[in-house]
Amino acid sequence: MSRAGREVRLASRPHGWPTPENFDLVKVSVPDPGPGQLLVRNVWMSVDPYMRGRMDDRRSYSPPYALGEVLDGGAIGEVVSSETDAFRPGDLVRHGKGWREYAVLDERAAQRVDQTVAPVSAYLGPLSGIGLTAYVGLLDVAALRPGEAVFVSAAAGAVGSLTGQIAKLKGAARVVGSAGSDEKVARLLDLGFDAAFNYRAQPVRRSLKEAAPEGIDVYFDNVGADHLEAAIACMRLNGRVAICGMISQYNATEPVPGPRNLSLAVSKRLTLRGFLLYDHLGRREQFVGEMSEWLRSGQIRYHETVVDGLENAPAAFLGLLRGENFGKMLVRL
Ligand SMILES: NC(=O)c1ccc[n+]([C@@H]2O[C@H](COP(=O)([O-])OP(=O)(O)OC[C@H]3O[C@@H](n4cnc5c(N)ncnc54)[C@H](OP(=O)(O)O)[C@@H]3O)[C@@H](O)[C@H]2O)c1
Repeated sequence: MSRAGREVRLASRPHGWPTPENFDLVKVSVPDPGPGQLLVRNVWMSVDPYMRGRMDDRRSYSPPYALGEVLDGGAIGEVVSSETDAFRPGDLVRHGKGWREYAVLDERAAQRVDQTVAPVSAYLGPLSGIGLTAYVGLLDVAALRPGEAVFVSAAAGAVGSLTGQIAKLKGAARVVGSAGSDEKVARLLDLGFDAAFNYRAQPVRRSLKEAAPEGIDVYFDNVGADHLEAAIACMRLNGRVAICGMISQYNATEPVPGPRNLSLAVSKRLTLRGFLLYDHLGRREQFVGEMSEWLRSGQIRYHETVVDGLENAPAAFLGLLRGENFGKMLVRL
């Protein structure tokens, strides 16, 4: 017996900043699961910056969302009915069909959630690709060594807040974070960052120099633009930049100029390296082991900003791009 549910579709493609009009909330009839499938009722879904790129009709590492079609993304669902022995009603699974209330999944597209480590929503945050991104970006791409100084931008966000804490746990001598408000700065200091600054208060370069007067060895870049330029200016010899994202330009309508001081990469022997978490999935087991331990022992704390209701998912996504989140932005369905 099929049931009614709602889903969010891409109504139109944005030019520049997305608006609520780019999304449509639609009532649909949900099919029954076939052999080897399960029906889940989504209880949590993730909104993430990369989804902005998928709203454009442009080739990238993730395919564009199709106009008029339901969006997708990370979600946690509770099994309602199952046509496979692998799952039973009541099981919680992580999967990629967010932005809808009900989803029919192939068995292999569902990953059981082990709720003994942390509350279920953590499987869209520190125990998900978000945490893995922070972990491999810092330890593998930037190759952080104990005693070094680290700068993290968008430090109050999901990836950034974990990156700073992992850096401390791995022996960084000084960890500096930037964020978009004084309130976020205070919360970063509470999380254990040695210094933090509000990037809106004065030029990033000046703030970074004050926060890390002896320079930085590693920059974990979530922002690009003035943050990247400031980091290059403050880098010590043999410094490394892990380029994780450049959120400051996701809504740009014109090509954005690169850092004006890139030639310093020569004299300072800098390494700038972009990365995607998909190339580092081999590190997942090690990461989950360590992160689970850090969460159990309270050595890593994580925050969530929760918005309720599928109808508010577009607002949650737009809020994420504007910086309305501290930690992971999530929608509870
Ligand atoms: N390479 C990968 O595989 C990979 C995987 C996951 C995520 N990422 C990237 O990692 C970064 C963080 O992602 P996330 O999921 O953790 O999101 P997030 O940091 O939780 O949320 C985005 C944050 O970006 C900040 N921001 C927005 N516009 C900005 C601007 N113009 N200048 C400075 N900060 C700005 C906002 O905080 P403020 O209030 O501080 O402005 C906002 O809270 C993004 O660049 C994302 O694309 C990359």
